[in-house]
Amino acid sequence: RNAQLTIDPAFAVGPADRRLFGSFVEHLGRCVYGGIHEPGHPRADARGLRGDVLELTRELGVSVVRYPGGNFVSGYRWEDGVGPVADRPRRLDLAWKTVETNAFGLDEFMSWAATAEVEPMMAVNLGTRGVQEACDLLEYANHPGGTELSDRRRRHGAEQPYGIRLWCLGNELDGPWQVGHKTADEYGRLAAETARAMKLIDPSISLVACGSSGRGMPTFAAWEATVLEHTYEHVDYISAHTYYDPSDGDRASLLASAVDMDAFITEVVATADHVAARQRQTRKLKISFDEWNVWYQSRVQADLDRRGWVEAPALIEDDYTAVDAVVVGDLLITLLRHADRVGVACQAQLANVIAPIRTRTGGPAWRQSIFHPFALTARYARGTVLRTEPVGPTYATKRYGDVPVLDTVAVRHDETGELAVFAVNRDETDLRLDVDLRGLPALAGTAHTAMTARDDPAAVNTEAEPDRVVPRDLPVPKADGGRCTVRLPALSWNLLRFT
Ligand code: AHR
Repeated sequence: RNAQLTIDPAFAVGPADRRLFGSFVEHLGRCVYGGIHEPGHPRADARGLRGDVLELTRELGVSVVRYPGGNFVSGYRWEDGVGPVADRPRRLDLAWKTVETNAFGLDEFMSWAATAEVEPMMAVNLGTRGVQEACDLLEYANHPGGTELSDRRRRHGAEQPYGIRLWCLGNELDGPWQVGHKTADEYGRLAAETARAMKLIDPSISLVACGSSGRGMPTFAAWEATVLEHTYEHVDYISAHTYYDPSDGDRASLLASAVDMDAFITEVVATADHVAARQRQTRKLKISFDEWNVWYQSRVQADLDRRGWVEAPALIEDDYTAVDAVVVGDLLITLLRHADRVGVACQAQLANVIAPIRTRTGGPAWRQSIFHPFALTARYARGTVLRTEPVGPTYATKRYGDVPVLDTVAVRHDETGELAVFAVNRDETDLRLDVDLRGLPALAGTAHTAMTARDDPAAVNTEAEPDRVVPRDLPVPKADGGRCTVRLPALSWNLLRFT
């Protein structure tokens, strides 16, 4: 099978925002407790932060981290998580049927984020709470001092304000599972009022209104339209969430998950632009794709049904296969291709819970298969995203009909001129790819790195075998007079580099 690709520096989409390489830490299962925070662990520092997880977070190249939820935030009282740890209350977390000890809270998270060198993205509770509590949290975090809340932060050890720039106005309030679930009008009004008040405290913040928790939600698109009618002028982003479930074994459809994400983005952009037109708004809204991943979601209910009220149980700890890594790489390609309208993206989540980083409590940390395409994309997708126009064969899927076997994006470094081409071959056979680089005739190939699922699609990394699914180097692509031919292995994610 053959395919062609043309790359020209004249066809720019926009800058590859570093915020596209975000992640997510929720008080869920062992993401916080036993994940990033484990006092007494041999690699933990005096704050209880696991050094091995911090190292892997930096290696992953994560830019921004959303916190503290997720569904968890919709019942959370942020004040429970600040002040002397011994005085913090134990609470029922209704979202995950867990006992929350509050041993980790805002100040610990900010300390972790500074050490991990990531930007915090904070979510406020608009499920069970409202305008006042969101304002209180913002005042505690960002106001310099001289008020009860800002001085409380200073007493807790943070003399300087945190200056948190990115704020989510609640989480998935369109979902009936959400504590404090709302109609679009109820949520839209509350989000608009909260946004207005928060911007009075700190006008420099950027705000994310909740979009749909999935493209398949019955209220999808109508929800966005109504919420944005209320909030457009007050917010900077509308969120999108999506997860792809491999559980039914339909590999062909799973490999085409990015086709769905692509349509999701296009439809949210169209809806936002429709509201902008109705309201005569000239400012274009961006998407915060602040939850996305592969998730064996059909296993979750069994996890929840099995337990009573316990602390930090092992929940939603999916083992990712070689195929899942190809899908994750392809979802990143899709986010980059829409870099003009997607401004933030967070893979859900960072540690243990549907995560690229796994740990054993008391034991080591290791990289899941999906760690690798994320880390390589975050490392090499720097500069300007270029539009690519792939031409190639299609294959049939049950979920999405006929879809292209090839998916691509290119990013050109603004200073060095180095070009990174990301390409997925969704097909069960190898693909010969002819790349037309005549717009960049001086470039020479320097590397071809691939994650391939052809030989062992179900292979996973484990504590005993942490490097079973890793990227491999393939023959360096030869570019000659602006023409180059490479072989993309069956079921593979590829990074081609040219300098
Ligand atoms: O990431 C896991 C959960 O998925 C989040 O808590 C929620 O927002 C979404 O439904």
